[in-house]
Amino acid sequence: MPDSKQKAIVVCFSNHKGGVGKTCSTCNIGAGMARQGKKVLLVDLDPQANLSLSLGVRDPSRSIYDVLMGEMEISSTIICVNENLDIIPSSLDLAGAEIELAAEAGREMILREALEPLLKKYDYILIDCAPTLGLLTTNALTAAEEVYIPLQAQYLSLQGITKLTGVLDKIKSRLNKTLNLGGVFLTQYDGRKVLNRDIADAIQEHFDSLVFKTKIRDNISLAEAPSMGQDIFRYNSKSNGAKDYEALCSEILTKLEK
Ligand SMILES: Nc1ncnc2c1ncn2[C@@H]1O[C@H](COP(=O)(O)OP(=O)(O)OP(=O)(O)O)[C@@H](O)[C@H]1O
Ligand SMILES: [Mg+2]
Repeated sequence: MPDSKQKAIVVCFSNHKGGVGKTCSTCNIGAGMARQGKKVLLVDLDPQANLSLSLGVRDPSRSIYDVLMGEMEISSTIICVNENLDIIPSSLDLAGAEIELAAEAGREMILREALEPLLKKYDYILIDCAPTLGLLTTNALTAAEEVYIPLQAQYLSLQGITKLTGVLDKIKSRLNKTLNLGGVFLTQYDGRKVLNRDIADAIQEHFDSLVFKTKIRDNISLAEAPSMGQDIFRYNSKSNGAKDYEALCSEILTKLEK
């Protein structure tokens, strides 16, 4: 358990490109941290609710939407996944939140303020972002200390990445001075494909020391686990997916705990 002075580090996984592995990574890095004895809270900030569904949470009666709308105490929306892992689920209502909150004063700070009372209860709070750069993602980036960008080793994966880093710079200068790009990592990687290797080289050249050594390989167990509502360690602890996320999780923890 964190000591009474220590505060959770808030981390978000963001990339406005869809299907790059944000949800899979939030789920399995969070589960990996929990297996290493860290107290972890996952926050599903995507109206698609894929993270919630991936951990078996379906049609929750309370969600992050209620918190952002100021209608629910955040602690009453927390669902326990296992001893060290909790989640605040999302719901389809969240799709309307960007419009409903558009005129709200301090609308970018709502999540940051809502998470404040939970900081002493957790070691890490991991936020799964939607594939957009709208108000919900701005809220995540304003609440976070660290942002990680999952990237697929595919043609066009770097396309638009300067848009994302530009948004990070603006949020850092205007809303959250302590925001740090913690790193990028490759997902759905197949080293047998020349294209994957070439794009991995281009990503290495672009991001240099920000690229994590571990590449998450393309692995069928990672695609299957969400349908069972289980993280990869529970679903298939011997899979390459479990090995890769365990390695990436250790790299991230080493960096965060320096
Ligand atoms: N390494 C992997 N190997 C095989 N399948 C994967 C891997 N990572 C993710 N997937 C699968 O690819 C799909 C997209 O992954 P995921 O949902 O994590 O991406 P995302 O970035 O969160 O997508 P979105 O932008 O829609 O939120 C999912 O069906 C997921 O199960
Ligand atoms: Mg997702």
